[in-house]
Formats: sequence, structure tokens, C-alpha cells
Amino acid sequence: MKHIDIKDILSGSQYQGKEVTVCGWVRTSRDSKNMAFMEINDGTTLKHLQVVIDKSQLSGFDEAMRVGAAVKVVGEAVPSRQGGLEVNAKEIVLLGGCPTDYPLQKKRHSFEFLRTIPHLRVRTNTFNAMLRVRSVLSFAIHRYFQERGFVYVHTPILTANDCEGAGEVFKVTTIGYSTEYKSEEEYYENDFFGKRAGLSVSGQLEGEVAAMAMGKIYTFGPSFRAENSNTTRHVAEFWHIEPEVAFAELPDIIEIAEDMIKSIVKEVLEKCPAELEFFENFFEQGLKDKLRNLVENDFAVLEYTEAIEILKKSGKKFEYLVEWGCDLQTEHERYITEEVFKKPVFIVNYPKDIKAFYMKQNSDGKTVAATDLLVPGVGEIIGCSERETDYDKLVKIMKERNMDLEEYRDYLDLRKFGSAPHSGFGLGLERLLMYVTGIGNIRDVILYPRTVGNIR
Ligand code: 4AD
Ligand code: MG
Repeated sequence: MKHIDIKDILSGSQYQGKEVTVCGWVRTSRDSKNMAFMEINDGTTLKHLQVVIDKSQLSGFDEAMRVGAAVKVVGEAVPSRQGGLEVNAKEIVLLGGCPTDYPLQKKRHSFEFLRTIPHLRVRTNTFNAMLRVRSVLSFAIHRYFQERGFVYVHTPILTANDCEGAGEVFKVTTIGYSTEYKSEEEYYENDFFGKRAGLSVSGQLEGEVAAMAMGKIYTFGPSFRAENSNTTRHVAEFWHIEPEVAFAELPDIIEIAEDMIKSIVKEVLEKCPAELEFFENFFEQGLKDKLRNLVENDFAVLEYTEAIEILKKSGKKFEYLVEWGCDLQTEHERYITEEVFKKPVFIVNYPKDIKAFYMKQNSDGKTVAATDLLVPGVGEIIGCSERETDYDKLVKIMKERNMDLEEYRDYLDLRKFGSAPHSGFGLGLERLLMYVTGIGNIRDVILYPRTVGNIR
């Protein structure tokens, strides 16, 4: 169906005085004695196109005026009183009618209600703006790495290992529950892969394999976490960006992470001014200034040990006790980034006992060369580390954690054959999107959120 994108009609005067064909869904309509008006949106822009109908010229368009209907309009593009162009309809074709039980009748609906209609909430302004920012952000991430010589690799989604070693893996199986098998081992032996398999929580381990040949790589795909966390920041399926860089130590990868975040946020500022204006008005006052400040200023870097001192001296009553060795909770992270630094903060050198087995052990014997990037309003958006490259140290800690060395033979081989310093990080796309849009719940920055007890 040949037609012109509403974005193109609204963005210049080239169509003024010309006959145009546009398609879209009716967002609002109003009828008066001689004239009727409707606003349509085709998803190419946040703005709606006004269609003006002279009732002495056209009739039989009642159904096409209903909110939610899909229509095709042919008419002349003329200057509108609000500035820009509108269309004087000559012909209106009803593509798909929309009865009055269409759920999106009101101007504003609660997010809770919208989550019950994921297939229709995409037609709201919030999702229109969010999905466009998400798309621009994703492309900017690819551009950032591609322009710097990183190779995009596709790591497997079906895996036999649990990268983070935390037992939060979704099982993958082709055989259901059965009492036929004498043991768990026997059950897995009879399954599709002949062993236990699951959905990948992270592409890192395979990313390291690729980086130890290609030097600089990144992944961009879904990761799955079966953790029972019913929060505004956790989903069971999220999009994960994981660069891995050979011959890079912790300060090098921190530099890349900061530069990447700044570069992609800058691109969103340039390409999505209308969307950011919308989020500024409806979600977070000061959003654009926050993003501009992020682009222009250095992020803070804070030792974990200092973070603990700051938290202890804060005089704040935290729900979770603060002691050296504790994992930082959301309340701690938010205090540091929102109240103390008021900007993104890298917390570096965490206690080794609260972090993953693969992180490089520092010479103090207590900490690892790892960092989390915390941002105001969201908390952790990046988990990052230099990797342990010493075969013996790695084996020792894996044994301490009762890990099956046989399962990690490939990973250990990398430390045997040409081991080299390397580092990488994981960025959660949805968490970053929450920060960039000011949307407060991760369920509202993804088309179909998967959370505990919820899938459709
Ligand atoms: O901190 P995480 O668990 O780190 C890793 O997976 C490493 N293997 C990354 C690496 O070094 N290559 O996860 C990284 C990021 C988090 O900071 C967060 O942004 C996001 O992934 N993330 C989630 N986002 C939404 N829902 C969840 N359940 C998430 N779990 C992690
Ligand atoms: Mg983490």
C-alpha cells in the first residue's frame, strides 16, 4: 500500500499543497456540525497528524472516526493553524474497524492496567517513545563497537554451564517429569543433550573464548535469569550487551564502559529530542539536563572499602546492615549515587567472597578487580571485571566453590594456552533504558516482560 510516513509529512513543507496518502490508527476524533477532525498516528513519530473532513464533501466515515480504527486517508496536505501540516481528506478508507470495547479509550491509563494488555499498550505515547529510544539506543551500541573494531559475536543461548555460578538458570529439557529414572544423572543422560542444559545467564564465558582470538568482541542478545526477584529492576529475560577485550586491565575496561555510555546517550539526545521532551514532561523533571551532565562530566570512581566507610558515616538507618564484606543493597547503592555523588559511580575492588569465581584476585588476597556502575534512580546498570588469568588461582577458587572443573574445561584451557590479561562487562539494556527515559519500572521498557509468575 503506497503511503507516506506521518513523520515525513510533519517534518517539512515539501508536501505542502500536494496530494498525499497516509495510513494510521485513530487516536482522537471530534465531530461538529459541518466539520469533523481526527488525529492519526502511524508509529513513525510521537506526533499525530490531524485529518480535517468537510462534511459537505465526504460522508459515511463514522466507523473510521472511532478511536483505535485503522484508516487510510487521501487528501491535500495544507498548513495547519498549530503550525506544520494537516490533511484535508478527499477519501477515507476504513482498513480495520474498532468497536467501543477497545481498551484504550481514555487519554491516560495506569501502567498496571496497561501491563494487562501488552499487545495494545504499544499504541500509547509512552510505548511509542520508549520503543523508538530503545531502537536508537541499540543501534548506537552497535555503532559504538563497530566503529572501534569490535567484532559482534553470537554466543549460544543454550548452555551447559552457569556463568555466574549462582544457580539461577532456566532448565532446558525435552522430557517432562517422570519417576522412571533412578537418579537425576540418569534423567539428564536421557535428555536431549545427554546432560543438564539451560538458558544462558550471560554470554561472557563464550565471549572470552572469542576475545582470546579476535581481541575485541561484543555480544548483544538475550540473557535469562530464573532468580525469584520481584522488583522494579528485574526481569527473567533481558537484553545484554557484553564486550570482552583482550590485553585490557580493569582501568582500561572502565574507560571503555564510561566512553560507551556517554557516546550512546549523546546519540539519543541528538536523535530523540521529541521523545526525551515527552519523558521530561511525564516521567522525570530535569531528565535532559541529567543526560547532558552525564555526557559532559566524568563518572566517579570509588573503592568498595571507601563506599562502606561513607555508608557507615552517613547517619542513615539502612534496612540492611553495612559491614565490610557485605553485598551492597539497592538502598546503599542509591544513597551513594543519588545523595553523595549525584552522578554515575563505579564502585571498584569488591570483596572476593561476594563476587563471581572468574574475577581477577587482587594481591591483597581479599578483593577482586571488579566494578559495578551505579546510576541515580536505577542502581546497578553494569557489572564488570578483569578476569582471572592464572590457571592455578582459578582452579583453587573453583574447587573452594565446589564447581565441577570438567564442565569448565574450555574455560580453563584459555588459561593454559596463551593466557593473557582480559576484561569485560555486561550492560543491561532495560536498566539503561530506565535511566534514559525516567520510566520507573522495568516491565514498562520491554515489549513483553517476563517476571515471576507472569508470561504471555
Ligand atoms: O552483573 P551481572 O550479573 O554480570 C554478568 O552477567 C557478567 N557476566 C557480565 C560480564 O562481565 N560480561 O549482569 C550484568 C548486567 C547488570 O548490571 C544488569 O544491568 C543486567 O545485566 N541484569 C539484569 N537486568 C534485568 N533483569 C535482571 N534480572 C538482570 N540481571 C542482570
Ligand atoms: Mg551484577
